[in-house]
Amino acid sequence: MTSCSSYCFVILLVLCRGYTSNTLYANACFTSIISFGDSLADTGNLKQIASETDKVISYFLPPYGETFFHQPTGRCSDGRLIIDLLAESLGLPLIPPFVRSDDVVELGQGVNYAVAGATALDSPFLEAKGVYNSMTNASLRVQLAWFKQSLPSLCGEIRDCKHLIGSSLILMGEIGGNDYNVPFFAGKSIDEVESYVPLVIDTIISAINELIEMGARTLVVPGNLPIGCTSAYLALFGSQKEKYDPTTDCLIRYNEIAEYHNELLQTELMMIQELHPNVIIIYADYYNAVMQIYRSPHKFGFTNGALKACCGGGGPFNYNSSMKCGLAYATVCDQPDTYVNWDGVHLTEAAYKHIFKGLFQGPYTTPQFNSLCPTSTSSTGERQNIELNVRNSRLDI
Ligand SMILES: *[C@@H]1O[C@H](CO)[C@@H](O)[C@H](O)[C@H]1NC(C)=O
Ligand SMILES: *[C@@H]1O[C@H](CO)[C@@H](O)[C@H](O)[C@H]1NC(C)=O
Repeated sequence: MTSCSSYCFVILLVLCRGYTSNTLYANACFTSIISFGDSLADTGNLKQIASETDKVISYFLPPYGETFFHQPTGRCSDGRLIIDLLAESLGLPLIPPFVRSDDVVELGQGVNYAVAGATALDSPFLEAKGVYNSMTNASLRVQLAWFKQSLPSLCGEIRDCKHLIGSSLILMGEIGGNDYNVPFFAGKSIDEVESYVPLVIDTIISAINELIEMGARTLVVPGNLPIGCTSAYLALFGSQKEKYDPTTDCLIRYNEIAEYHNELLQTELMMIQELHPNVIIIYADYYNAVMQIYRSPHKFGFTNGALKACCGGGGPFNYNSSMKCGLAYATVCDQPDTYVNWDGVHLTEAAYKHIFKGLFQGPYTTPQFNSLCPTSTSSTGERQNIELNVRNSRLDI
């Protein structure tokens, strides 16, 4: 027993040394994952909220979940999401949703506050602009309020909270996509939606600052996906007047909104990093991680191409907003793993697996996630080296 525990401790230390390997980390590096965001990360919150109000939402009907869970779980895909793959790779169990029927909240090895359909901006703010989100009002600020509310039951003694939050990996997003989807789907112009971008970034940044004040030490902050490549955007907004990217056939002007969001987000993250050298802020470049797939889908095994949804109501992109995946008359493809797009808006588990690899085992995180393991039980010198490296790599952007 004694020899095992010291032996295991050595192994963990070796695993936790930065730069040495790109293999998966032991969960000693992070004791838990705390997540905020939208349908890219929701593992069941909206499903629970909807069941309490008897609201029928297509995401919670078959064939959602068919590939991995074999039933709908509240995830907006056929299988696992990036957060699930991340938890698995860290040796943690899948991260349970915060909203549960039994009201028991335990930190355990993670809590997920992400809600499908959530915006970064608050609902009343968007409503004042004529943007109504029928899915949920659980904006980022609401999710953060849930988190604060749950701290006493998560931490036991409130003074232990800083330590618990500090040893958790905070996944901040993706969030902000719906601040653009909802107005676009409601017919708002590109210029108007573009004017929301700085507000969305400010909201995300202030949430990050609050979390740092509460003790967060490692945050992964994903950017937006290329929305102009999704089947829904192509079906709804494609036309002969639109400009298409010749390398992907995606809608350029819509992708530019995501690029603008991502540039502003990275600039602000660099500023936070400068102010907080003891905190590791990792930008996760979802955009370019998936763009490599859109450029050469066949190379990644997506033999049905990247732009047509697996599940939907027909048409050139298999997307029809009145016959959504899960509802009557929509059909589902036989092999979701040969499609990038699952339901018009969300991606398949197969696509998320490639994005996950590119991010957490590859080059699409800055600083690179697989070069870090901030649990510094051994020496502060090591931690300082990592921090120096983080600062240098941020300055290189
Ligand atoms: C969100 O909506 C629910 C149900 O419609 C309501 O009870 C709640 O007060 C709203 N929350 C906020 C923050 O607006
Ligand atoms: C979408 O489905 C509806 C209902 O079946 C149909 O009337 C409509 O023409 C379809 N729209 C497109 C763009 O195919």
